[in-house]
Amino acid sequence: MSKDPARRVAELRDLLREADHRYYVLDDPELTDAQYDALYRELVDLEARHPELDDPDSPTHRVPGEVAAGFPSFPHPSPMVSLDNVLDEAAFREWVVSADRFLKDDSPRTYSVEPKIDGVGLELIYEHGLLVVAATRGDGFVGEDITTNAKTIRSIPRRLRGKGVPAYVAVRGEAYVRKADFEAFNRAAEEAGERTFQNPRNFCAGSLRQLDPGIPAARPIRFFAYAQGGIEGEKPASQSAWLAAYARWGLPTVPEASVAVGADEVVARHAELLATREDLPYELDGVVIKVDDGGLQERLGMRSRSPRWAVAWKFPPRRAFTRLRDVDWSVGRTGVVTPRAILEPVFLAGVTVSHATLHNVDELARLGLLIGDEVEIERAGDVIPKVLRALPEKRTGKERPIEVPSLCPGCGTGLHRDPERVALRCDNFACPPQVVAHLVHFASRKALDIRGLGDKQAAQFHEAGLLDDAADLFALVDRREDLVALERQGEKSVDNLLASIEEAKAVPLDRFLFGLGIREVGERGSRILARAFGSLDEVAAADHESLLALDEVGDALADAVTTWFAEPRNRDMLARMKARGVAPTPWEGQSDGPFQGLTVVFTGKLERLSRDEAKTLVEALGGRAGSSVSAKTDLLVAGPGAGSKRKKAEELGVATVDEEEFLRRAGRLT
Ligand code: IVH
Repeated sequence: MSKDPARRVAELRDLLREADHRYYVLDDPELTDAQYDALYRELVDLEARHPELDDPDSPTHRVPGEVAAGFPSFPHPSPMVSLDNVLDEAAFREWVVSADRFLKDDSPRTYSVEPKIDGVGLELIYEHGLLVVAATRGDGFVGEDITTNAKTIRSIPRRLRGKGVPAYVAVRGEAYVRKADFEAFNRAAEEAGERTFQNPRNFCAGSLRQLDPGIPAARPIRFFAYAQGGIEGEKPASQSAWLAAYARWGLPTVPEASVAVGADEVVARHAELLATREDLPYELDGVVIKVDDGGLQERLGMRSRSPRWAVAWKFPPRRAFTRLRDVDWSVGRTGVVTPRAILEPVFLAGVTVSHATLHNVDELARLGLLIGDEVEIERAGDVIPKVLRALPEKRTGKERPIEVPSLCPGCGTGLHRDPERVALRCDNFACPPQVVAHLVHFASRKALDIRGLGDKQAAQFHEAGLLDDAADLFALVDRREDLVALERQGEKSVDNLLASIEEAKAVPLDRFLFGLGIREVGERGSRILARAFGSLDEVAAADHESLLALDEVGDALADAVTTWFAEPRNRDMLARMKARGVAPTPWEGQSDGPFQGLTVVFTGKLERLSRDEAKTLVEALGGRAGSSVSAKTDLLVAGPGAGSKRKKAEELGVATVDEEEFLRRAGRLT
């Protein structure tokens, strides 16, 4: 550390700029928040004591004190055009063919394929590497000068770095807010009783338009560079070269942008981005496809409002308007009664939607829904659609209130409100829909894997009085004639079912535990229990304390397990199973598995497996999945974006591999 204040100030400014770059541009921070804060405070302190060292470009001066009176206009050096949209593959291919015709050349071309970021378009003017103006798109010719606000955004560098920084460049791109940052902000605002925002884009646009730069400074706005409005100096020869130059100069670019050759590759890349849409940290509403080569771009040129060399292939909308016809109520496996919206069918994101979840009674109240209301619905990923809001302004007066049932729709028992879970609950263990849901879960693939016992069969057998709980399944061998006599059942299907039940008697313990449907005990929980206790009798005998002593077991799970095994009805069911020869196979893992006895930790983004799948794989192959790196860690699997854990592993000499090598060691890749 340097003693000379001028040297130390310069050093601190460099350290903080580097930290901002790693955090906001490379997405790979090396400093902890506390370390960053300490350096920042030291700089603020030194600058206060040595006013002569002050510099408007210092990282401490992102936020000036004054509030602007308005935003001056800024004429763009060249128009900020928009793009033509296509909505499906056929229209995209037509665009390709029309460009082919224009160029009189139909050989496969190289394209830059980029996520269409759903944010706010910005132009950043850099002169000799320094940010001099930031402006919104406005009408495409004249935008608003929001330089002061843009300077508060840490992912917008105030000076470019690296070699070959041009004397002048107009960088264009998108300001946006990550989904997780948006949700965290809204949650905090809600808790503080402050206003919340509808979506990341509105939030971002609203923040940039604030006259008080303190507001955008306190909001998690980020930026991606993806286009240009002119350059003095050497001009990159293609879109992909532009993106590479931006990255070299310290500007953030979209990591998911890629180059494709020919229309087929673009189509495949579009499908990939659509499929991973929900996993990406930012909102995208389509894919932008640009002819990569700069020379070809010039030849293709512009139509009136948009370039011929680029097109936006939008994703199907995930939101739509329709009418709420009615609300029905269903009973789940755990007795929770949930409302479901019955909708006028509407086409949305590729499917016809006629139902949507309403979560719980509180949600109904929050939405203020009436039957007959026009509603906005959303379908995100593969999730069941949900109702976002009602449109009370469209009411006609014929709408009627939703009646919340006081009796269980499955069995007529009085319902009660479970205060902890804002749920309506039916406590009747003999409630038919609950019994059937339990049986179906017990027989499901991840539990006992009994083939031939789906919803319909379970309901039919229960109604016929042949099946009241899971233990009855193992007594069905004695009721073969009764089963065969049932409608839609034949000798063959019944025999197959009975054989499958017989086989399931020796199911691995973890899957058996999962099948019991104990609250809080999912697939991973079952595995933890099976592994720790070895046998069903041991799990049944475990007390609260010994459960809590397990890694990853908390109060809720420990409570749920002891309560379940203390219940006489459950004990009786297990005893009847035992009498019928049900004997779950003790947990073995894979005793000679490649991760036998090893502790494996994951960090960064995994591309092929989810975190849970990866942990499950380690456990299935004899290892333990740890959550933090310590001297006891044997292997760190690090994906893109790995930061502090990777560093720690390095310090401790823990072996580090990437996901591919991990899969290879797991025998999942050759
Ligand atoms: S290129 C001439 N690339 O989409 C090229 N635009 O109409 C001009 N957008 O509002 C734009 N992601 O703000 C381009 N990777 C991307 C983009 C992108 C989002 C926005 C842009 C504009 C609209 C295009």
